[in-house]
Amino acid sequence: MIEFKNVTKSYDRKNLVLKKIDFKIKTGEFVVLIGESGCGKTTTMKLINRLIDPSEGSIFIDGEDISKVDPITLRRRIGYVIQKEGLMPHMTIGENIELVPKLLKWEKEKRKARAYELLSLLNLDPEMYYEKYPHEVSGGQKQRVGIARALATNPDIILMDEPFSALDPITRESIQDEVLKLQKELGKTVIFVTHDMDEAIKLGEKIAFLKDGEILQFDIPDEILKRPTSEYIEQFLGKDRIWKTPKKLLVSDIMSRHYSTIDKSSNISRAYNLLKAHDSDFLVVTEVEGGKHEEPIGIIFRKNLIYAMENNILRVRDIMDKNFITIDKDSNLLDVLNKMSTLNAKVIPVVDDKNRLTGVITNLGLVNAINKIAPTPEIEGEEVEQIGEAL
Ligand SMILES: Nc1ncnc2c1ncn2[C@@H]1O[C@H](COP(=O)(O)OP(=O)(O)O)[C@@H](O)[C@H]1O
Ligand SMILES: [Mg+2]
Repeated sequence: MIEFKNVTKSYDRKNLVLKKIDFKIKTGEFVVLIGESGCGKTTTMKLINRLIDPSEGSIFIDGEDISKVDPITLRRRIGYVIQKEGLMPHMTIGENIELVPKLLKWEKEKRKARAYELLSLLNLDPEMYYEKYPHEVSGGQKQRVGIARALATNPDIILMDEPFSALDPITRESIQDEVLKLQKELGKTVIFVTHDMDEAIKLGEKIAFLKDGEILQFDIPDEILKRPTSEYIEQFLGKDRIWKTPKKLLVSDIMSRHYSTIDKSSNISRAYNLLKAHDSDFLVVTEVEGGKHEEPIGIIFRKNLIYAMENNILRVRDIMDKNFITIDKDSNLLDVLNKMSTLNAKVIPVVDDKNRLTGVITNLGLVNAINKIAPTPEIEGEEVEQIGEAL
């Protein structure tokens, strides 16, 4: 675990570049620092491997105050990857990767074996690349070598400062995928800096949002997307972002908990009174009285009740709509839209993993939920059609 406790940093004793930074990164976690240029991302990174020291406050790694650890010893536990991969131009790729192992006086054979292993790990054929010079390979390959070098001595923490910002989008996608896979396989703690929200969402288990030397929000990507804590973050995210990731919007986020239930053996007039009292259009029918957490067995609408009264049908169970669908609370917005449109459902009871009623999704509720989450959604294409169809 890496822990910042009340860390401030100023370079000139006047301007605070970091103001009382307080956060914890768990072992094995992939944490992304994001924010505009100059907000203090690089400064935060450099404090971790003691390229600089805090003006106030302390940083702990696994409970140990790092100001008491020799920086060289500390850095052996911490790999560092920077934007311009920082390879030595006059050294081969092999020599670049073996730089630190060599300083640590590893035998040549052991060093080479490690370099080969790492090149393979990063999808670079060692036979082909070991002897090459940095200028002979592409930007993406150089960046892979930069990562290999950071992993050389098997550190448990990796710092990555905007490592992919100079890469073209396609190379960038594939190298992001590789880093994610690697981090999972190797179980490293990664602190990754970017100013690109898409990259942050894709990579981060947690995202720390920085502005002017302060952490505005530190949370899982879903939470930041759904509930940004400030207007600044909201703007940074772009209000339409949720529409780019409708899979992240879960039924439990958009369902309504305001609904009434009635048991199947109740009579129609009781159902009608209940509807009137709650100014509702429908009731969810359950097996027993007050069965909020029971399995839903039917739905009854106002028009069914009127029909029942006109035709002397006495019991709820004889008129309820049994051909309804339910949806799991962990499904996402796209699943809801699909179900609503293909089955032409007006009300969908939401159930938990034990098939117990936990909420409902209605057309109107859906619109309201959507409006609340994205006040002025700029939605396009498929999703608009699906919503149009669903309502
Ligand atoms: N060595 C330094 N001396 C003085 N000011 C610095 C130094 N390094 C960074 N700064 C200032 O600290 C602020 C944060 O910088 P930095 O952490 O590099 O931002 P980021 O990585 O988020 O773009 C900036 O205003 C920058 O100008
Ligand atoms: Mg920076």
